[in-house]
Amino acid sequence: MLRLAAISLLLIASVLSEPRPDLAVPVTIPGVSSGSLDTNGNIVANADRILATLNQFQSIVQSLYYIKTPEYAEVADNFRYVMDSLVEAGSPIFQGLSNVAKISSGNIERAFNGIRSDINYTIDLHEEHMSLVNASRDILGDATTAYFEGALTKLFENLNNITSLLNNIQGAVVQIQQLNPRTQAAVNALLPNSDIKALNAVLRQYIQIADSAIPEIRSVVSRIQTVDGLNSRITTSFEQYRQSLNTYINRTSAPYLQSNVINTLVNGLANLRKQLVERTSKDGVSVATLMFDSNNVLSDAANRTVPVLQALALNISTNFDALENLVKTLRMATDRPHVVLNMTERALNAVIRETSLVMTQRRNRSDSCFAQVNNLFDAIPRNVYPSLSNCLYNTVSDLSAMVSSMNYATGFTRTDMNYELAAVEGCVNMITRYSTDMTKYQAATCLNEARNFISGRRVYVQQIANYQKLLENEVAYSAGRYDYCLANSMRQAQTMINYLRGTFGQCVGMAPAVTPYKFRIGGKVTIRFG
Ligand SMILES: *[C@@H]1O[C@H](CO)[C@@H](O)[C@H](O)[C@H]1NC(C)=O
Ligand SMILES: *[C@@H]1O[C@H](CO)[C@@H](O)[C@H](O)[C@H]1NC(C)=O
Ligand SMILES: *[C@@H]1O[C@H](CO)[C@@H](O)[C@H](O)[C@H]1NC(C)=O
Ligand SMILES: *[C@@H]1O[C@H](CO)[C@@H](O)[C@H](O)[C@H]1NC(C)=O
Ligand SMILES: *[C@@H]1O[C@H](CO)[C@@H](O)[C@H](O)[C@H]1NC(C)=O
Ligand SMILES: *[C@@H]1O[C@H](CO)[C@@H](O)[C@H](O)[C@H]1NC(C)=O
Ligand SMILES: *[C@@H]1O[C@H](CO)[C@@H](O)[C@H](O)[C@H]1NC(C)=O
Ligand SMILES: *[C@@H]1O[C@H](CO)[C@@H](O)[C@H](O)[C@H]1NC(C)=O
Repeated sequence: MLRLAAISLLLIASVLSEPRPDLAVPVTIPGVSSGSLDTNGNIVANADRILATLNQFQSIVQSLYYIKTPEYAEVADNFRYVMDSLVEAGSPIFQGLSNVAKISSGNIERAFNGIRSDINYTIDLHEEHMSLVNASRDILGDATTAYFEGALTKLFENLNNITSLLNNIQGAVVQIQQLNPRTQAAVNALLPNSDIKALNAVLRQYIQIADSAIPEIRSVVSRIQTVDGLNSRITTSFEQYRQSLNTYINRTSAPYLQSNVINTLVNGLANLRKQLVERTSKDGVSVATLMFDSNNVLSDAANRTVPVLQALALNISTNFDALENLVKTLRMATDRPHVVLNMTERALNAVIRETSLVMTQRRNRSDSCFAQVNNLFDAIPRNVYPSLSNCLYNTVSDLSAMVSSMNYATGFTRTDMNYELAAVEGCVNMITRYSTDMTKYQAATCLNEARNFISGRRVYVQQIANYQKLLENEVAYSAGRYDYCLANSMRQAQTMINYLRGTFGQCVGMAPAVTPYKFRIGGKVTIRFG
């Protein structure tokens, strides 16, 4: 930069005589962009043309700043760095050449040395540029890497050619500068025509190499952008569905499971427990009133029955408490849909990587084949999400319906207990204030029979055990359906991914390299107690 400023100052300071003599041999450069070499061109125009092309390099690679996918961001950085560096190191050289070509006065030696040192600096960067291009080989492929290595090497050799021509031209420029008077005829006589032609030939070669690199650079940039775009788009899509799934679970499945399944079951059991305990306790109280009867046989029978009823109430409480606590531990594996979503994303990402490589390596037909499958990538998360939220929805609905039936099933316990407690109640009801001793003996016998009957049977214990087993079975059946639903969602996604992969592979004439991706969810029961 400093050097450039110095050269500009030299030029501004120069005294312009008329007509201004310069090193510009015929001012036209026809055919430069089409690569024709059959005219000499002009150093200023050629150098300016190179500067314009280099600017184009730089502006094309600008968009590589915005690559998000880490895998491609590195390649993009390398590639952009090489191009930027090529431009930043090359521009002063051609700016300098353009400037010295407009010579009239100033320190010619300093100006030429500036160019030489800029060339040296650029040549020193060559190794680094080559190794950075080589580092992107895995992504860009052998052909593209070879192309850019070749182009860089040609540009590098080209700069070497410039150096050797500068010496002769510098000598002539110094002589022209010393002319007094500086007539056009005298300038023409000193012009190093063959060296200027040679320099122009080198510059035009540079233009040709650089020009043909432009579509190649564009192609690399646009492919990296395409695959980065695909990757970001699909990553974002999965991220959104992951959020939606979270929200769905938090706002729908989890609260519904709590309120319509767990709470409904617990409330049903608590309600039954309350009825049974209340009735048993009430019976205990009414039997206890007989403990102080004047009839010893009756009071003794009552005294022996009360603890049995108390123990019964306690036993009912304890058993129901245990069952309610068990029901409260009912859990649904709400992370499973996330597991499926993640597995789907991983499998799709593998296909995206494969497809992206075909694109960045510019395999035959990759563009048109990519266009064919581009939308299919989005279809996969879009299909798997509703499928997974359906599994959640169906499972909680299914559990909720099962819970209603389970609450009906408690009716058996109520009925059985009613009949069994009725035995005790019947004995108590035999006694009134006016009962005769005979009735009291009869009632005492009745109580003793009822007590033995109740403590021998304990039907409700069996009922609760049945209820628990039934509940466990129903939950397991539901879990099986949930598992099936998740596995089925996964298979659908798998099928779509395999189809996508196969379609693209066939289109680009490349059989899928490995066997289709296998999914696995572990075949675990995904709703359970505890
Ligand atoms: C450029 O490099 C060459 C060879 O390495 C050296 O002879 C020359 O002095 C250098 N020129 C400048 C201006 O640095
Ligand atoms: C280019 O990269 C490959 C690895 O991708 C490495 O084996 C090779 O040595 C590199 N070549 C050069 C010239 O750095
Ligand atoms: C530059 O030099 C190389 C040899 O180093 C030669 O093959 C090539 O033709 C030269 N280019 C021009 C335009 O003179
Ligand atoms: C869902 O709930 C979990 C834990 O309860 C919490 O970590 C997460 O942030 C919630 N997500 C949303 C989307 O509400
Ligand atoms: C009931 O029986 C227990 C012993 O089993 C006795 O200690 C108690 O006094 C009896 N109560 C009445 C009221 O008879
Ligand atoms: C309730 O009664 C049954 C049958 O007698 C017995 O097996 C069980 O241990 C009792 N449970 C409790 C908690 O007392
Ligand atoms: C799914 O993937 C996300 C993002 O990679 C991660 O945060 C989450 O823990 C994964 N979930 C499961 C259940 O593996
Ligand atoms: C790509 O296509 C070109 C021209 O159609 C053909 O020469 C070349 O062999 C193809 N390359 C591959 C890898 O199929």
